Amino acid sequence: MQAISRRFGHHSSGHSSLRLIHPLGNQYYNGRENPRFGSTLAPQGIGHLVRKGTGGRSSVSGIVATVFGATGFLGRYVVQQLAKMGSQVLVPFRGSEDSHRHLKLMGDLGQIVPMKYNPRDEDSIKAVMAKANVVINLIGREYETRNYSFEEVNHSMAERLAIIAKEHGGIMRFIQVSCLGASSSSPSRFLRAKAASEESVLGELPEATVMRPAVMIGTEDRILNNWAQFVKKYAFLPLIGDGTTKIQPVYVLDVAAAVISALKDDGASMGKVYELGGPEILTTYELAELMFDMVREWPRYVKVPFPIAKAIASPREVLLKKVPFPLPNPSMFNLDQINALTIDTVVSDNALTFKDLGIVPHKLKGYPIEFLISYRKGGPNFGSTVSERVNPDAYP
Ligand SMILES: NC(=O)c1ccc[n+]([C@@H]2O[C@H](COP(=O)([O-])OP(=O)(O)OC[C@H]3O[C@@H](n4cnc5c(N)ncnc54)[C@H](OP(=O)(O)O)[C@@H]3O)[C@@H](O)[C@H]2O)c1
Repeated sequence: MQAISRRFGHHSSGHSSLRLIHPLGNQYYNGRENPRFGSTLAPQGIGHLVRKGTGGRSSVSGIVATVFGATGFLGRYVVQQLAKMGSQVLVPFRGSEDSHRHLKLMGDLGQIVPMKYNPRDEDSIKAVMAKANVVINLIGREYETRNYSFEEVNHSMAERLAIIAKEHGGIMRFIQVSCLGASSSSPSRFLRAKAASEESVLGELPEATVMRPAVMIGTEDRILNNWAQFVKKYAFLPLIGDGTTKIQPVYVLDVAAAVISALKDDGASMGKVYELGGPEILTTYELAELMFDMVREWPRYVKVPFPIAKAIASPREVLLKKVPFPLPNPSMFNLDQINALTIDTVVSDNALTFKDLGIVPHKLKGYPIEFLISYRKGGPNFGSTVSERVNPDAYP
């Protein structure tokens, strides 16, 4: 981390009205002398913040980050890495006190600050952003509910955050986490909403950084865990399509490291879009094989052609807004994800990637999928190794 900036404490005069909206200490308003593209993000990123200490948990990084979506899967790793370098992390949450409890221990005393908010209420968003100089948006959801549409969660909320961050005037970095494959022509509504969110965020804040992670793997992931749970229950895995769709799964910690690396690069990543895929391109079948190896189960698949998978998934979508009670969230058969799986989702050739952030992503085989051992029948140490695996059907 770089040392102290001499520009700390310099203020441009044009933001006094913003300071009235968000009455903050002066230290949050430096670095806005040269607004680019009419935005209020500091052109030098966070490079001129005051830093103290050796860079560990009890140091001061100068970063005060509001992490929207911190209560989710990626959120815990982002918060942990921010806290580890001595940042203060404001954690907006909408659920119960339990939703953020695990984050509290990640930082020094008082460094993790949970704040109740309502994502539909601008004043409450302003309140959780008021003291921040960095905003990270991890809000997203891959299925719709009765209350929240894809568009609202994945697009409108991001747009609202960007508008408020722009108004704020003291936000030096805005990082928007989108999704690999986000495109206005995607067959998935989720990915179309993510594409719209990127456009809106960059429209409001051209210096924002957009991260597009591929499907994320890790202890709390929603792909290998769902598969392993299904296999444990039913002894087979439905393979949607014929299992040949190419994906590029990425270790969640690498994505969190990319967010932090972008924050620390003092502006080089501002206004850029990064595609974060793992080191290997796998078909869904190959990923499932990895899962079976780790849980030490004999792989049994049932191929579910796309039309049948869509037919299985459709009733929930049709009934979602029609029945007067909430429906279960889809795990294996999510219509929108089935639509997304009809095309390959890999990092494009000319995209900025982990390499441009100085990160070498982990291979999945090994530590990133080791958490699956908890699904082994009879305990983590039970079962044959992959090479010794024996087809149980061969022994009647
Ligand atoms: N997981 C993946 O494989 C993957 C892959 C590519 C991109 N992404 C994107 O990366 C980001 C983080 O992913 P993740 O896996 O950490 O997601 P996650 O575990 O589902 O967490 C999402 C976060 O968004 C919040 N959220 C969801 N719906 C909300 C709503 N209606 N109002 C307010 N907050 C809401 C959740 O808050 P609550 O805890 O209150 O629900 C949670 O904090 C998301 O934008 C996701 O789309 C994920």
